[in-house]
Amino acid sequence: MPHGDGPARLRVAGVSRRYKRSGGSEVVALDSADFEARAGELVLIMGPSGSGKSTLLSILGLLDPPDGGQVFLNGDDVTSASEDARAKLRRTHLGFLFQDAGLIDRKPILDNTALPLIYRGVPRKERENRAQAALEAVGLADRMHHAPGELSGGERQRAGLARAIVCDPDILICDEPTAALDAATAQDVARRISEMKERGASVILATHDRDLMPLADRIYEMRHGRITETGAAR
Ligand SMILES: Nc1ncnc2c1ncn2[C@@H]1O[C@H](COP(=O)(O)OP(=O)(O)OP(=O)(O)O)[C@@H](O)[C@H]1O
Ligand SMILES: [Mg+2]
Repeated sequence: MPHGDGPARLRVAGVSRRYKRSGGSEVVALDSADFEARAGELVLIMGPSGSGKSTLLSILGLLDPPDGGQVFLNGDDVTSASEDARAKLRRTHLGFLFQDAGLIDRKPILDNTALPLIYRGVPRKERENRAQAALEAVGLADRMHHAPGELSGGERQRAGLARAIVCDPDILICDEPTAALDAATAQDVARRISEMKERGASVILATHDRDLMPLADRIYEMRHGRITETGAAR
């Protein structure tokens, strides 16, 4: 798909999300946010801790419906899609790297990485080959038979990335993909993520890492649940 044409891959309009805190008070984690990501675009969401980045990502990733506003996937309004329908859309379109990597502790990272391929009905041998290739791509070839608990925080984060990219998703959403990494490893991860964009994926990253800014086609800034587009570094 040519860049910039047609509907955005993923768009939200006026989305809000409130959380109830124990004790009864309410937090407005997202306040009427507008956001879009197009095919072949790398989009950064920046902003201080607690500003609402992960909250927005969980709505963009169709994990959590908003309290108000609308969510569009390839131009279709999916705001009120059922839990099942959202799960299906996630499996078809999305790769997600959670802030805590979200790996299953009991399983080696090879099995963790292959998991999304099971949901897509990929045969066993091909699952293994693709999971292996994804782990190699993030520099974990020699760790693939280890369980997440036997890895460092940065290695877990990279395993989470391998799992997010193994299906070659058309939307890749990563929450702080480089947070636990040294500068050299962060650069490798950034390169791998940029490749996804070159292949036409929409890549959405929440990050504090200013080194990622030169890669961005679009940058949003979040403050206290409000989002503004601040342009791009290039
Ligand atoms: N499950 C929850 N229950 C209550 N409040 C929540 C919950 N999740 C998040 N919040 C609150 O919503 C606000 C936004 O949180 P969010 O996790 O989206 O921030 P963030 O920008 O991702 O921060 P960080 O950079 O630390 O990851 C914060 O004030 C947070 O305390
Ligand atoms: Mg967060």
